[in-house]
Amino acid sequence: MLTRRHFLAGTACLASGAAVAGFGRGTAMGSPLPAPADPSAGSVVRPDLTAAERPTALPCFAGHRMPMWTFSDGAWPPVARLSLGDRLDVLLENSLPGETEHTSIHWHGIRLPNDQDGVPYLVQPPVEPGQRFRYSFVPPDTGTFFFHTHCNTAEQLGRGLVGVLIVDGDTTEPYAADETVLLCDWPIDLDNGTFRSFSTTRGASKAGTYGNLRSANGSTDTEIRLPASADCRLRLINSDRTRVMEIAIEDADAAVIAIDGIAVPPFALTSWLLAPAGRLDLVIRSPREGGVARLVDRRVDPVVALARLVGAGPAGSGEAFDPRPLRAGRIAEPDLASAERLTFSFAAGKGTALPVTDDPVERMLLGSLCLSTDAFWTINGVEWPGRDHAVIPPPLAVLRQGRSYVLTLENASQIMHPIHIHGHSFKVLSSNKRDIPVHHADTVLLMPEETVEVAFVADNPGKWMFHCHVIEHQETGMMGYVEVA
Ligand code: C2O
Ligand code: CU
Repeated sequence: MLTRRHFLAGTACLASGAAVAGFGRGTAMGSPLPAPADPSAGSVVRPDLTAAERPTALPCFAGHRMPMWTFSDGAWPPVARLSLGDRLDVLLENSLPGETEHTSIHWHGIRLPNDQDGVPYLVQPPVEPGQRFRYSFVPPDTGTFFFHTHCNTAEQLGRGLVGVLIVDGDTTEPYAADETVLLCDWPIDLDNGTFRSFSTTRGASKAGTYGNLRSANGSTDTEIRLPASADCRLRLINSDRTRVMEIAIEDADAAVIAIDGIAVPPFALTSWLLAPAGRLDLVIRSPREGGVARLVDRRVDPVVALARLVGAGPAGSGEAFDPRPLRAGRIAEPDLASAERLTFSFAAGKGTALPVTDDPVERMLLGSLCLSTDAFWTINGVEWPGRDHAVIPPPLAVLRQGRSYVLTLENASQIMHPIHIHGHSFKVLSSNKRDIPVHHADTVLLMPEETVEVAFVADNPGKWMFHCHVIEHQETGMMGYVEVA
């Protein structure tokens, strides 16, 4: 049972937000987290990443080999794991099929130098078929991150060009297990062994084109064995192009310890809206030997079980569930008093869907003739020109390096938008609709007509993408960038 004596009095919890109830050890919401760890001596981690078509029979494909595009020959998804202070050094090679399928890697959530950010045209040339590109940087934060293509993203991400990036060094207590669960749907025709459309006119103009096959770590029937009755860490990553999930744990106590990689004072999980690109780190008290708990998505009816968590082996200590906090993030604290205020409004565009066709061949032809201007979505009334990154508009805003900003993020539509900033992490302050704990996030979910206030120090110079992470929204206008100079 949760140690109720540790709950804060008077904190509300709403179904669509989070229970904001602190645990013991003097770590109630608002109290300081332990100091960050000192970076390691700095080894170099060199994962081998080659983007290529690798027909793969993931367990969820029911025996069919699907024409997946992946970053590595090994197990899917690939995992790059380093310690704080280590350098990640990657020579990305593009071996994708076709003459024109260029690619890149965006290291989502990592506050890295701008030229390592992986956005084609804006910060690097796209990596053409047969070409290579070297990424080399030292991630400044511990936590759970991921990486993905930033080119033709609906299709490339939809086919599997994604990987996990973990930076160790945040734990203050040993966990009995540390498991990563990458969640995504596949738009798939299992009978024919082919993918369905990753993007459609109807989907792009609404909530997106959903896949029809849910998966966790590439399986529909995921079982994770955990040491029994012990505190285990779960790192959840929503790598889906489109789907917002409402994450909950059934039949086990669970606490949130980090959001988008960055520590929060632990609070009991009731449920959490995990939007595309969002990450959520949990500590759960695993079931008794032979017992089963479930990781579920409650946003759908009936509730979908994403993974079974099975207790195995001799029971752990049996102490009351009272998880320790992770080490604090290393993100500069914005000065709210002196901060400059800016408003960004996310809205539907004119919807000049000329022409309306879901036929992929027709779309491609029209696209290459530059006739298709599917601009369904805008930021501050402006849409990104075209469906790719090749034409660079002026920045949405120029921010002064080192200055604090408070941004009002306003959803002026009836559709959810997870809004992502590159190269920085927002401190999420408040919402006009939900009771959310103060936390850091690089991807902030805006519910229909919700307004969320965030603050940050613009301390990373360069041109940083600022876009919706429902990829079809991103690719039909809801994309821009801010320049920090
Ligand atoms: Cu994870 Cu610009 O995106
Ligand atoms: Cu959106």
